[in-house]
Amino acid sequence: MTTKITVLATGGTIAGIAGSAIAPEYRAGEIGIDEYLEQVGGLGLGAQLSGRQIANIDSAEIGQQVWNVLHPAIVAALADDQCHGVIVTHGTDTLEETAFLLDLTLPATKPVVVVGAMRPSDAVGYDGLRNFANAVRVAGDGDASGRGVLVVMGDRVFAARDVRKYRTRGAEAFRGFPRESVGLVTPASLEWFGAPWRQDGAACFEWAGNLPEVTIIYAYAGLSAAAVERQLGDTTRGIVLAGVGEGNMPDAVRQMLAAQAQRGVPVIRASRVDEGLVDREAEDTANGFIAARALNPQKSRILLQLLLANGVTDPVDIQDYFDRR
Ligand code: SIN
Repeated sequence: MTTKITVLATGGTIAGIAGSAIAPEYRAGEIGIDEYLEQVGGLGLGAQLSGRQIANIDSAEIGQQVWNVLHPAIVAALADDQCHGVIVTHGTDTLEETAFLLDLTLPATKPVVVVGAMRPSDAVGYDGLRNFANAVRVAGDGDASGRGVLVVMGDRVFAARDVRKYRTRGAEAFRGFPRESVGLVTPASLEWFGAPWRQDGAACFEWAGNLPEVTIIYAYAGLSAAAVERQLGDTTRGIVLAGVGEGNMPDAVRQMLAAQAQRGVPVIRASRVDEGLVDREAEDTANGFIAARALNPQKSRILLQLLLANGVTDPVDIQDYFDRR
């Protein structure tokens, strides 16, 4: 039986054009999905690919509007008995946020793979074809089910909740934390490290078409409470602190954020450091803070938005979700 995969394209460097093989500048989101599938058609990938253009943009522009089109398109593809898996092509800059949002709101019954590239399509060493061929391999693999949304970059498969972009340039720009990667893939082989972890298959959260505003505050030496105040507005429903070290902050900022928490605005303590856990500390209970655990600030923001959208507002309940992610 031929493996059928639905490809939903959103743009990014994987669909980018530089106009020269060595140009440093390029435009993301230029090649349409039909042209792209024509190009990969010659690779002999052994799967039937059907494409849909959801957007064709730089992923810095991705947000609720695109997600509101992308999410139902994936749900429809997953409901189609003919479809074995879904690939989403995406710019790498915000890929981890889209992947995590989808991971939390989609069933894990069929493979959903998000893939990007670090070099535009006409550059020397374009990584997009290899990454895409690897993504086809993963999306067509029955064992990819029950692992939630997966990200393929290079020859590695990452879980959406672990993956992060940690380099601005170069093909090896992604890694995972706390799990480095969950599988190794080539266009001809796929090896999983361990069993699927979402065997019940159900989505963790209802899809929310209108996520509440959650602000990320970036901590630095000399951050003042006044500077934090200026970043908060009447519409702020939650705050994520990208704290120094293990989610730390100056005392004046701590007091100011504790006052926000007392007013019912949940405050997550995450870290601006790329890797490491932020655990609860003794003062968190009195301050009303939540520890981000293994989630970085941008993923903490997505989880908090979904929790708030689904009516979870109590810090104890919110902490429970962060502990389980
Ligand atoms: C983007 O995120 O759309 C541009 C950068 C990239 O895809 O690598």
